[in-house]
Amino acid sequence: MLEEALAEIRSAPDARALQLLRVAWLGRKGRVTERLKTLGGLAPEERRAAGAEINALKQAVEQAFDERERALEAAAVQAQLERERVDVTLPGLRPAAGAHHLLTQVMHKLTDVFRTLGYEVVVGPELEDDHHNFEALNFPPEHPARDTQDTFWTTDGRLLRTHTSPMQVRYMRDHRPPFKVVVPGKVFRNEAVDTTHEAQFHQLEALVVGERITMADMRGAIEAMAVALFGPGTRTRLQPTFFPFVEPGAEFAIWWTHPKTGKEEWLELGGCGMVHPNVFRAVGYEDVTGFAFGFGLERMAMVTYGVSDIRDLYRGDVRVLRQFRGVA
Ligand code: PHE
Repeated sequence: MLEEALAEIRSAPDARALQLLRVAWLGRKGRVTERLKTLGGLAPEERRAAGAEINALKQAVEQAFDERERALEAAAVQAQLERERVDVTLPGLRPAAGAHHLLTQVMHKLTDVFRTLGYEVVVGPELEDDHHNFEALNFPPEHPARDTQDTFWTTDGRLLRTHTSPMQVRYMRDHRPPFKVVVPGKVFRNEAVDTTHEAQFHQLEALVVGERITMADMRGAIEAMAVALFGPGTRTRLQPTFFPFVEPGAEFAIWWTHPKTGKEEWLELGGCGMVHPNVFRAVGYEDVTGFAFGFGLERMAMVTYGVSDIRDLYRGDVRVLRQFRGVA
């Protein structure tokens, strides 16, 4: 009987079959149990030996069940390990990493240059008022110079800043000279949009005020920026022009090799000049001089990286973002 039991138990294919076998052998009406029940019918002198034998049988069967159970469990775990095996040598799924927009990269590059030159980087509000955007910058009311800055007005009489120059006024009002600051930021003009004009663009403004700041310092600052951006030997040019908040005023250009055409030419960048006495007066400064310059980033980014339509910088097209990731 033991041999038969062992053979069945050892060949039970899974836990469920084993459980059925356990009932068949050791259950209330199982074969081993039935054998035990026969003990009662035996003569007392036979019962002892038969009892010992059946108990030994029962123990052997129980032990076989336990062994088989452990074996099946181990096999199940092994099968699961096989089934759920992870191949750590397979290439992973790379999460798409974000990247800075081309303009942000250009902006960082520029602010890095000026930080190196000892300038503080500050930012100001995009929603401005007439006082900071025009009046304190020496644009009298009704002055035609206002027409050069097509302005978005809000219904409550405020405006979207048309340049970063209002931060000149805010910074000077809150600080004492000497100082050197640059102001990167978004500006707005009510323009007809085309490939080179957007109603929103970015400027970088520089303002340096101190006791004997001269136009030569301004020239040096612009040249230092040009050299940092475009390499040693880069030349700059100033040509007289008018902005109400500087006197004398100029526009500045950088002599560079166009990265796409390979041609050497002047890249007109922006405006500059010595801070007008009326601006100093508006912020209560005396006995100081200073210079300021400001220019648009889009143009510089477009010619440098070969973007022919300014609107591509604002469409949010992922292909454009990908194309210019990490270039500047
Ligand atoms: N704010 C002027 C503009 O947007 C540029 C400028 C800045 C000119 C500083 C002179 C000095 O056109």
